[in-house]
Amino acid sequence: MKYLQDVDIREKTVFIRVDFNVPLDRNRNITDDTRIRAVLPTINHCLDEHARVILASHLGRPKGPDPNKSLEPVSRRLSRLIHKTVEFVPDCIGPEVQKIKQKMQPGDVLLLENLRFYPGEEKNDQDFARQLMEGVDVYINDAFAVGHRAHASVHAVTLFAPICAAGFLLRDEILYFHKSMEDPARPLVAIIGGAKISSKLTALINLLKHVDKLIIGGAMANTFIKAMGYQVGKSLVDDSLLDEAKELMSTALQKGVKFYLPVDVIVADSLDNRAENRVTTIQEVPADWIIADIGPASITLFNEALQDARTVVWNGPMGAFEIEAFSRGTLAMVHNVANSFALTIVGGGDTDVAIHKAGEVNKFSYISTGGGAFLELLEGKKLPGILALEEWHKKHQSA
Ligand code: 3PG
Ligand code: MG
Repeated sequence: MKYLQDVDIREKTVFIRVDFNVPLDRNRNITDDTRIRAVLPTINHCLDEHARVILASHLGRPKGPDPNKSLEPVSRRLSRLIHKTVEFVPDCIGPEVQKIKQKMQPGDVLLLENLRFYPGEEKNDQDFARQLMEGVDVYINDAFAVGHRAHASVHAVTLFAPICAAGFLLRDEILYFHKSMEDPARPLVAIIGGAKISSKLTALINLLKHVDKLIIGGAMANTFIKAMGYQVGKSLVDDSLLDEAKELMSTALQKGVKFYLPVDVIVADSLDNRAENRVTTIQEVPADWIIADIGPASITLFNEALQDARTVVWNGPMGAFEIEAFSRGTLAMVHNVANSFALTIVGGGDTDVAIHKAGEVNKFSYISTGGGAFLELLEGKKLPGILALEEWHKKHQSA
């Protein structure tokens, strides 16, 4: 595909699809601007080239126009980050927007209103996409986190833009994913955690084709523990997936993939900071208790398994880490992965939060901005947002 650095954007009108789907508090203050910072290299490059920069994103999942889902707070934060006025446009298509676009000067930056205020966005509507591309010379996709959605601003727009390319963030996401899963230095170790096995099952099945070792933590481990014949008390468990869990373990064995489950856990009488809790082996989980985190022996075991790793891919926490009493397993894993000699790639919102909490952000090779998009890559899927750019490139080889 084509990348931003291969495109002449000097004084051109450049439309950048970004993912500014950032968390806001009750007063609509941005609580985490990681996703805004992640696209600064792309925006700054365009400004260095005196391009006219139009930014577009979704925020949340509005059903029609909704002032609580406006991108206006993002324009203020972005202005501060790039030390430049970012004009907020309270719509994303239509004659008013068109007029504003036409008046732009080189070096101007616009942020359009939430694309999802129009149903055409999620419907991948061609007419909506065509209107977004009116007056645009170059379309840049730098919205990895929404790459798994075949939405108009990610997919259909590539039918109408004269030139299409990937921005620096999307480029890096693709590059690091390639290094971790498609052409990894081995041993390759995947660590998968989180609450629900149902949402990660497809990823686990695909990972078995790629990895040398698979480490499972979080509440999803409970289903495996139960599948082995042990009791998990009142823990979260998916009884409908016990057979799948068994099959996964036997596939791992057949393929020679080393499969690691917790050997001990923290159990509590409720998922509360003040709950009574203690360490127990997975063979001795009390009937009325809940598994809330991995135990100290599991931390040691998982760390042993990481010792010779040259690549580590991680998605999902080891326990209910948002509750301090049950955060030790996840935080210990953050430190262990951070200190490993491997290339370390992490995706998913919860894991990202845990890494920030542990203060180890700078020790990871790459932290993906994607949640769902990252998981779909782990599932072995091609993302519609990336496919659209590849298809555009195939059609315009000489462009
Ligand atoms: C995300 O936060 O996962 C992306 O911005 C995509 O949002 P969506 O799940 O609402 O499509
Ligand atoms: Mg999502």
